[in-house]
Amino acid sequence: MKDRILELLKTNQDSFISGQRISLELGVSRAAIWKYINALKDEGYEFESSSKIGYRLTSVPDLLTQEEVADKIKNNRIGKSIIHFNTIDSTNIKAKELAANGAEDGTVIISEEQTAGKGRLGRHWISPKNKGIWMSIILRPHINPMYASRVTLIGAAAVFKAVESQGIRTLIKWPNDIVLNGKKVCGILTEMSAELNRIHYLVIGIGINANVDDIDFPEEIKTSATSLKIESGHPIDRKSLTAEILNNFEILYDKFLSDSSIKDSVAICRENSVLLGKEIRIINNGKETEAKALDINDDGELVVVHPDGTTGVVFSGEVSMRGLYGYV
Ligand code: BTN
Repeated sequence: MKDRILELLKTNQDSFISGQRISLELGVSRAAIWKYINALKDEGYEFESSSKIGYRLTSVPDLLTQEEVADKIKNNRIGKSIIHFNTIDSTNIKAKELAANGAEDGTVIISEEQTAGKGRLGRHWISPKNKGIWMSIILRPHINPMYASRVTLIGAAAVFKAVESQGIRTLIKWPNDIVLNGKKVCGILTEMSAELNRIHYLVIGIGINANVDDIDFPEEIKTSATSLKIESGHPIDRKSLTAEILNNFEILYDKFLSDSSIKDSVAICRENSVLLGKEIRIINNGKETEAKALDINDDGELVVVHPDGTTGVVFSGEVSMRGLYGYV
């Protein structure tokens, strides 16, 4: 009911709407309306109200709640259900817990702040309050677990497209970073629970430094991390960006489910790659090798040429590039 009252107030933002009209249209008592309005005030909504003429919504909070994002989502599954937190340890941890307890495919967990945000290789991911997009998507694909990592590329392509739709051109660092002016603005952490031939669930954790300020980054990552706001010089509409990511994700993910092809996502990652043509260092199982990145093949693998002239593919692992994130 709270959602429906909010919707009614949002569509009538230019005028007052009487308690009587809300009561009649939604079949709810005047006392209950008052209770819901107070609950909305606690969430940061602001109203003008008068006992004679009713209520008018004057301001909505900058929060990534279901109420604030849902009207921009065009999908059938991804993000139809958003579970929102003001603060949490990590949305990936929460998503895994909910998935293990049966949460539906496409459920999205978003938090305004993470106190123990997880990066790859056990690193910490800074997640200051109300300044980024810290979210995890629960997926239950009926695919062989060996293809699970492809979903990371779908995530990267979806983020690229969404950020581009806000007028900002980034680059993709295969397979899971988005880079702007040589610094990282987004990282993706995909986690899986599976048997040998069956996936229980995947969790795609996406962290976007949208409106993070310079002061929020610890000194040691200032040279390698930045935000969309810092680089573009203007604040980012987190609600639209969140919805755009989820909308793009569903399109690319559905394509993958229908024919196992990630060609569209790969094309986006290839055309906007920061790595291709560059000298790179590959760290796999603690072993470091140097190579030149040549291409991303249709299976989403990085094609490289080794110093001895032989070519090979990299499936996963850490790749670093000279001149990017301060690596020299
Ligand atoms: C990386 O580049 O190391 C991956 C970073 C992934 C961060 C996101 S923020 C939302 C989700 N929850 C987490 O704890 N981590 C991911």
